[in-house]
Formats: sequence, C-alpha cells, structure tokens
Amino acid sequence: MRLQEIIAKKRDGMELTEAEIGTFVDGIVDGSWADYQISALVMAMFIRGLSQGEQDDLTRAMIYSGKVLDLSDVGRPVVDKHSTGGVGDKTSLIIAPVAAACGLAVPMISGRGLGHTGGTLDKLESIPGFDVNLSTERFKELLSRNGYAMAGQTGEIAPADKKLYALRDATATVPYIPLIVASIMSKKLAEDLDALVLDVKTGTGAFMQNYDDSVRLAEALVRTGTGFGVRTEAVVSDMNQPLGKFVGNALEVYECIKILRGETEPEMMPTLDLSIELTAGMLVLGGVADSPESAKAKINEILDSGAAFEKFRENVEVQGGDVSVCDEPQILVARDLENVPVLSTSAGFIGGIDTAAIGNAICSIGGGRSRAEDVVDHAVGFASLVRVGQEIAVGETLGVIYCRNAGQSDSVGQNLLKAYEISDDPVAQPALVKTIVT
Ligand code: URA
Repeated sequence: MRLQEIIAKKRDGMELTEAEIGTFVDGIVDGSWADYQISALVMAMFIRGLSQGEQDDLTRAMIYSGKVLDLSDVGRPVVDKHSTGGVGDKTSLIIAPVAAACGLAVPMISGRGLGHTGGTLDKLESIPGFDVNLSTERFKELLSRNGYAMAGQTGEIAPADKKLYALRDATATVPYIPLIVASIMSKKLAEDLDALVLDVKTGTGAFMQNYDDSVRLAEALVRTGTGFGVRTEAVVSDMNQPLGKFVGNALEVYECIKILRGETEPEMMPTLDLSIELTAGMLVLGGVADSPESAKAKINEILDSGAAFEKFRENVEVQGGDVSVCDEPQILVARDLENVPVLSTSAGFIGGIDTAAIGNAICSIGGGRSRAEDVVDHAVGFASLVRVGQEIAVGETLGVIYCRNAGQSDSVGQNLLKAYEISDDPVAQPALVKTIVT
C-alpha cells in the first residue's frame, strides 16, 4: 500500500482501516516513509479527526512498533504514574520509593526536559554518578529486588512515537487529543502494567492550559488505558504555579530528599500533597489498599517510619549514585551559585503566575533544553516563595534565582517579575487537585 493513498483517504475525511494505520506506523519505524509524507498524514488526521477506533488502532500499532516488556515475574502488582509535564513537577522521585515501600513494582521509564517543562532523567542525573541507562534485564532485576527502577526511554519502546512526536512538534500538530493519547499510552502500555495513574496538568505551566481540554484529555487517556485492560485513573492537577518550592534539577532533587527525610518546608507541601494523592491512587488500583483513605494512612506511615527514604537511598546506591546526597542534601545546592531575589514592585494579592514563563526563564540560563541536544546545567534554578492568592507588600521576595552570575539574573529577572500578576482584590487559592477521572 502506498502512503499517498492513505494520505488522500484521510485528506478526504474518510476513516482509515486498522491495516492502513498499521502500514503507516510500520513505515515510520522502518524508514519507508519520507518525513513530509508522515507530516502530511498527521496534519490530515489533525484537521479531519480520528474516530475512537482509529485512535485505538494507532495506539495499538504504536505499542507494538517496538518491544513490549514482560514484567509478569516481578512478583508484585506493576503500577506506574505518568505526568503530562509541568514546572517544578518532581513527584516521581517521591512516588516511586513510597509506592515500592508499600509493595508495588514501579517501572519508571522517564524522559528528559524540553522547553519550559522539566524531565525526571535530568533531575536524577544531578545526583553524581546516577545511571539512568539500564538494560531491560537490569531494569527487571531492580524491579523484582527493590520494587522500583528509574530508567530512560530506550529506542526499543514505542520507537514510532519518538519519530512521530518530533515531526508533530515541528509541524504544530501536537495539541490534538487522539494523537496525544496514542503517544502517551503507547509508551505506558508497552510497560506491561497492571494499573496506571496519570497526572494531567492544567493551567499556565501545562501544555493543556484550559481546564475543559485537560478534563477531556484525562477522560480520553482513562478510556484508552481501561480499554487496553489496564486499570487507569487520571488526577487533573493544578499547574497555575510551580509545584512546590523549587524549579531546577538539583534543587528539585534537594526538595524531594528533604520531604523523604521528613523535613518538608511549608513551600514544599504541595509537592508532598500531590505525591500522596497520586500514590494513593496507585495503591488502590494496584490492589494493596482498599480505599484512598486507607492508602493515605499507609503512605504516611511509610513516610514517617523512614522506609520510603531508605528505599530512595537504596535506589540511588544500586543505580550508581552518590548516596551522600541522601545524608547531606545540602550538597545538591551548589555553593558557588549566586542567590538573587526577585522583589515585588507592587502591593496586593498574587492574582496569577505565568508558570511557563518561569520554566522558560530557568531553561534560558541553562536549567533546561530549548533543543533536544542542549547540555543542561543541573545546578541553576529558582525558588518560588509565594502562592496564588497570597497577600504581598512592595519589596517582598517573590522568589530567588539560583544562577551562575549577575549576567544570568539580569537576563531573566524582569521576565520572572513579570510572571507574577499582582491584583488589588483578594484572589482565591486554586485547588491542587481539580478532579479525579476514573
Ligand atoms: N507528551 C507525550 O508524550 N506525547 C504527546 O503527544 C504530548 C505530550
């Protein structure tokens, strides 16, 4: 079958068959199709739409475009968490050890940061020596032995998505729910999961900024997961401000270790609260807790006893990381950085925060990547010290830039200041968890 015939069919608004979608995906992986042909078909899908059946066929073809893990012998319920990405979104580092200490196996296959959003792999690599490049055998061994492992996406899992996502990114075809669902779920469903909890971010730092769109995405993800036999739920969570205190790789790891050590600072509470909410969903879906309430009680016990911290420490050790960061997290806050406060120039209430602007500012001083090949400076970042709704006086500190030199703080200071909208009238604090879709 020639791809131009399939493109023409979708261009004219017709439904594609499973075989045609399979041909498309096979050709992406084996290099039969030119980038312009793939892009043309994706644009036709974007404009003409995909039916539920086409979306499922695309998801299935993408799952089987690579290796599908067999985790049937890890001896625990296999449950993962996936976030659609945000600023200061660091919950994976807390959720994995807590869930593992509660009896689940968590196969965390994560990505790198791109643009304003961070990535778990970059955060982990700010721990000296931490190795995210695990072979499938080693990954499975760690899962059985320790309950969790943190690895990078190898080219073997859902390879069609890697190519397709890059082309969608370059052709303005990312924001279409059926394509997003196929992309996210093909990677997750190739992990042989029993259950999956999705954290769908909504707000100024999320790629779905609009609440109704975020709920629609959450519903579509849950429908697909469930349809493929994986118990799935989605938590739609607030991304109208950075999550917790820090943005920036090493600083975010610092925040997580502080939380796991039971030293949570007030600004870090949202990170802990969201981690508990997501982990509770995993325990219930994974069958090791009867209700969200009993799951939360169990999680608090595991945190208070130090068992989750010990699990994290064990993981750092087995993945080659320097465990002294667990005992002295301050090591992660580089001593040679300048700390430059961003001071409010008006009085009132924090009316809104342009969260993507904060992520972009930190990215621009080296904390993230504008292009996939950029090198990251793990140390730089930002502490966001105020929350939406908080009252603020002139001269009060909105946040602190952790940077290499004054040139960097000069280049982003104004953008960070502008990210905080100050209102004369009181503003309601946004709920952290907006809704849960089951
Ligand atoms: N994240 C993904 O992995 N894929 C998308 O299409 C969008 C966000």
